[in-house]
This record gives sequence, structure tokens and C-alpha cells, in this order.
Amino acid sequence: MTQAESQLSQKGYLDIPVDPSLDLFAEITRLKKEKNAVLLAHYYQDSEIQDLADYVGDSLGLSQEAAKTKADIIIFAGVHFMAETAKILSPHKKVILPDLKAGCSLADSCPAPLFRKFKEKYPDHVVVSYINCSAELKTLTDICCTSTNAVQIIESIPKDKKIIFAPDKNLGAYLIKKTGRDMVLWDGACMVHEIFSREKITKLKERHPKAKIIAHPECESHILDIADYIGSTSGLLNYTSKSDATEFIVVTEAGILYQMQKANPHKTFIAAPPLNNCTCNECPHMKRNTLEKLYVCIKHELPEILLPDWVIKEGRASIDRMLEISAKAGL
Ligand code: 13P
Ligand code: SF4
Repeated sequence: MTQAESQLSQKGYLDIPVDPSLDLFAEITRLKKEKNAVLLAHYYQDSEIQDLADYVGDSLGLSQEAAKTKADIIIFAGVHFMAETAKILSPHKKVILPDLKAGCSLADSCPAPLFRKFKEKYPDHVVVSYINCSAELKTLTDICCTSTNAVQIIESIPKDKKIIFAPDKNLGAYLIKKTGRDMVLWDGACMVHEIFSREKITKLKERHPKAKIIAHPECESHILDIADYIGSTSGLLNYTSKSDATEFIVVTEAGILYQMQKANPHKTFIAAPPLNNCTCNECPHMKRNTLEKLYVCIKHELPEILLPDWVIKEGRASIDRMLEISAKAGL
């Protein structure tokens, strides 16, 4: 059972009926104001949820917003580990997530009890964990990172210190290449970023020779090898705005295309194709959040993210360290 499922004591919220005649957009906007709630959304959410959000961003931006918000309630339109991070950073606020089952294959690939045993084999190593991990894993972590600040986090660690990187082996391999540091990698991966076909992307590039291939570092190395630019979701978005190119093949979850198109209406964005003909370049976890669930979530303030005090206390240090290093690096 995943941690998200174990919290289903707040059962039943998915069965609450929603009046189909309601203007959900207007109702959600009204309820947010009435309850002094802030809606934080990740770039991989559906466009209508992004449009309703008070802040849309990447994992780093979302955690920075969660840490500084003055709202009484944080509605997290993202996945479970992101809402947990918000709770750790703002423990006295109510943090709600439209669907508790909105998990993450990457976070699930690294269960804390197994990682604890793995870590025991490397007692003198510093543990750096990608923020895409459970709150419990964060308690076993020295410094968290996101894809925006991962290079700076690794470079902040003295060269004579050995490093374990968890849970994403693809981001880990990219960081080894980029920083020259030797790291022990946990064998985890994101199901969405491992689905892209190099062959299909190469064929697409032949048809669009001027297009820039831009990829997220959660992709496998054979994809990153053909990319013109590698970066986090916000990095990819900024690159498309600053670049002189007018066509981009975007190798990450397709939700980010919405903001790219909005910021650059005259440019063309092509979602990179997956290995088969499914819509696997959409994250099924992120897409569990719908407008209806968002409405029920804010109206009934359910389901709530609840964490034991010791997890909040011990998990917080690794996130605070990340935020301090990011602030020093101007991120
Ligand atoms: P970023 O938005 O931080 O690049 O992370 C991508 C991701 O996979 C979130 O789950
Ligand atoms: Fe997790 Fe991948 Fe979905 Fe991001 S895109 S939430 S890493 S499964």
C-alpha cells in the first residue's frame, strides 16, 4: 500500500456528487477567496486547472511558494509528494490535494524501509534526494534537490565527500556527467520520462529540421544525448521564450506545452512521441486531478495531507538546506 492510500481514512470524498449545472470555474474562484486559500499548480496539470491557479510552477517554485504563503489553506494541484512538501514547509496550514491517489512512480520506486537498508551500506556518504520522493524518504536525506537546482546542490557538497543520489537514476546519471562527481545511484525512474522513443524523435526532427529538441533530465541518456537543451520544466519554458528558434520538440510531460504556447503564441511546440501509440507522455498521476475533484476538495476541505510530527521535523531539514543553497545561487 502506498503512503497516499494509507491516508484514505478520509474516505468518500471521491463519491461526493457535483451538480453538473455549476460553473466550476466561478465556484472555485469564489471559494478560494472566501476561505483565504491559495491554489498552487504544477505545469503538468490540465490547462483549466493552470488557469485557475494563483501560482503555476516547477517543483522548486511550488515549494518556495508553499513556504511563504499567507493563505490559511494550500490547495495543491499536483501530486502527493508535492503536497507533502508543502505540509512540511507550512505545518500549521491545512494542505489539501484533490485526489490522494495522485502519486508518483518515481517516489514509489524508492520505499523508505528499503532505502534505509541501502543507505547503511554507505555510512560515510551524503544523501541527496530528488524532491520527487516520499516525506519519509526526506527524513533519511541530507539535502533535497529539484531539477532546477540539482547541479548547484551537488556542487555545494565538498569534493572529498561521497554522495548517494536517490531516487532517479536518469537525473543521477545526468548529474554525474554534468558535475563530474562520482555518485551511488538508487535504481528508480519516472514512468513518463522513460516512455519516449529516440527513433521517433529523430524522425520528427528530420521532418522539422529547424526544431530544437528540448528535454527534461528525468529522460534516459539516449534521449538526452540528442537534446539541444536539457532543463527542468521552468528551464524548458524559459528556453523556448528566449531562443530565436520557432519550433521545438518537447520531451517531457505534455502539460507544459500549454504555458509554452501561451507565452509564445507564434512558435510551434510538438510533444515528443512515446514508444507506442498511447498518451503516455501524460502523467496519469498528475491527470487524476480534475476540475470536479478540485471543486469538492476546496468546498469540503478534503482530503487533507496529514503527517506525523517526527516526519515533519526530520524531513524539513533536507528541504530547508535545499532552499538555502537555492537562495544563495539566486534560484
Ligand atoms: P520540475 O517541474 O521540477 O522540473 O519536475 C518535473 C516533474 O516530474 C514533477 O513531477
Ligand atoms: Fe512522478 Fe513522473 Fe508523474 Fe513527475 S511525471 S509526477 S516524476 S510519475
